[in-house]
Amino acid sequence: SVSNFVKVVEVGPRDGLQNERHIVPTEVKVEFINKLSDSGLKNIEVTSFVSPKWIPQMADSAQIYQKINKKPNISYPVLVPNMKGLEDAMKVNVREIAIFLAASETFSRKNTNCSIDNSMKIAKTVIEEALKHDIKVRGYISCIVGCPYEGQIQTKAVTNLAAFMLQCGCYEISLGDTIGVGSPNKVKNVLHELEHVSNDMNKFAIHCHDTYGQALVNIYASLECGIRTFDSSVAGLGGCPYAAGASGNVATEDLLYLLHGENLETGVDLNKIVKIGEFISSQLQKQNQSKAAAAILAK
Ligand code: HMG
Ligand code: MG
Repeated sequence: SVSNFVKVVEVGPRDGLQNERHIVPTEVKVEFINKLSDSGLKNIEVTSFVSPKWIPQMADSAQIYQKINKKPNISYPVLVPNMKGLEDAMKVNVREIAIFLAASETFSRKNTNCSIDNSMKIAKTVIEEALKHDIKVRGYISCIVGCPYEGQIQTKAVTNLAAFMLQCGCYEISLGDTIGVGSPNKVKNVLHELEHVSNDMNKFAIHCHDTYGQALVNIYASLECGIRTFDSSVAGLGGCPYAAGASGNVATEDLLYLLHGENLETGVDLNKIVKIGEFISSQLQKQNQSKAAAAILAK
């Protein structure tokens, strides 16, 4: 039987902030993450150890990781693209990393200056080295149903990467609809094909951007397929700088409203998340993208 518990992975501090043009002060990021640590979330992706020339917003990753209040029962993964990123992350004693590959050749080159084949080789080395040091590794696959440059993506490209990353030792693969072009049956089709890679759906997570307003229906479709881990961003922050027009992730508030409404347990306090969404939106001087937050705040 499928469990009633759903794991929510908050990616706001990383995916949410990486697309912000104005550099957010380190203290604000730290306060944001510390508030998230008090909401019941058990997985918070806090920053990325990528090239600051590519993503200037993430230049303070080592400081962020050192300054945040790390609770013992919470995992604080960081995104890592290569060996240099892993080495820098290890210097500040990171316990979990996330590596990222793309199912689209063009997106891979735009995002990491690297072919899919080459990035797989790099990923393998990084994963092996991380595991040697007892660092957990999560894997991402971008463009699972569509690419901003190539359009439709072959499902085979997704299943190949998923099999590869699981074999390398990733404990979970987060499937990214990077530009939010999926619809329920397209997502279900990918998940059905992935059952041939692993029949344990707990190996997979769904990472929906809400560009076309399809995130929640795709999440519901994934729930029906047995997925029990979802990535989201408080206030719907986010987007990938190498995917023009990509809007934020599904808002954590909206995701929680759906899950709790369906009597699924997350351990996360929705009211606290709403307050954090307001905090970070006002800091960024951005409109909060969560509909659930707007409704709750209007009461
Ligand atoms: P490159 O320019 O080809 O790198 O970039 P390089 O190896 O040729 O090195 C060039 C310079 O960068 C060198 O410095 C390196 O030391 C430095 P220099 O000698 O010129 O002074 N460098 C680094 N510095 C800090 N940290 C590092 C690092 N690596 C090299 N880790 C690279 C290749 C992969 C580094 C670059 O393309 C990059 O950082 N890309 C990351 C882009 C990114 O962060 N994208 C967003 C995250 S992915 C995403 O959002 C999708 C996701 O949310 C899922 C979904 O929605 O689908 C996960
Ligand atoms: Mg993303």
